[in-house]
Amino acid sequence: MESNGLSGRTALVTGSSRGIGKAAALQLARAGATVLFHGSAPGAKLDAAVAEAGGKALAVTADFCDLQAVEALAQELIGKALVPEILVLNASVQSYTGLGNFDAAEYLRMFNANVESSCILLHLLLPEMRKKQWGRVIFTGSVNGVKPASRLALYGSTKAALMNLARTAALENAPFNITVNTILPGVIETDRNAKALSDPEFAAQLREKIPMHRFGTAEECADLITFLASDRASYITGAEIPVAGGLQL
Ligand SMILES: NC(=O)c1ccc[n+]([C@@H]2O[C@H](COP(=O)([O-])OP(=O)(O)OC[C@H]3O[C@@H](n4cnc5c(N)ncnc54)[C@H](OP(=O)(O)O)[C@@H]3O)[C@@H](O)[C@H]2O)c1
Repeated sequence: MESNGLSGRTALVTGSSRGIGKAAALQLARAGATVLFHGSAPGAKLDAAVAEAGGKALAVTADFCDLQAVEALAQELIGKALVPEILVLNASVQSYTGLGNFDAAEYLRMFNANVESSCILLHLLLPEMRKKQWGRVIFTGSVNGVKPASRLALYGSTKAALMNLARTAALENAPFNITVNTILPGVIETDRNAKALSDPEFAAQLREKIPMHRFGTAEECADLITFLASDRASYITGAEIPVAGGLQL
């Protein structure tokens, strides 16, 4: 296998119907992997992403707020011999909920979707991945996991929890030649923040806070995910790498 090629590998990218996940899934497909695109439910965007990838792509769905659906997804992959060697844990839900407007139900929803779903997927898929003695787990964290933003206190705490989970998974799976790393996006132009960034005044203020004075693209995040998935990243594990134009500083 060539150093940057992923032919013969299977990848699952959660939350790849759009945004960062879609860009990463398309890059992994272009590098030769068979890619499982994932969305919360069947839909036109998910179908379009799969179609854009061409032949070696499939769609899977599960609402990560529903933990039974997450478990069913893992069992479906095991049952169909589609356990990925490359697992990109990217899907998340996000709301502007802080300590000032704390909402227990909303926190549980975010925690289930962002953290517990990852625990379930890792718990069920890693034993199968270990058998192959080659694997990549890549988390999409957030700069908010390391840098506080009061309106994102609850979301940020789910991302901080993921970083600890990723480090532990890196430690436990290194002997099996499975690397586990986390990318930390800053402000990336996707559907998620399109509404907020459509306010020119807010967007200008935010750009000022970013040392590079611009927002990032899904492609820039996907470039790092694809590198971490490749053989060229074979000795990198337990890392947390910002893709944030310096916003983490
Ligand atoms: N954009 C940013 O500025 C930014 C910054 C830091 C970190 N991040 C992180 O980067 C990752 C991707 O963000 P993005 O901006 O690309 O997001 P996005 O454009 O909002 O896309 C979210 C993806 O997650 C899926 N998803 C949403 N709710 C889900 C649920 N309940 N169950 C399963 N899947 C669900 C969506 O599927 P459907 O299409 O089916 O809804 C979609 O594929 C997230 O983990 C986010 O926290 C983003």
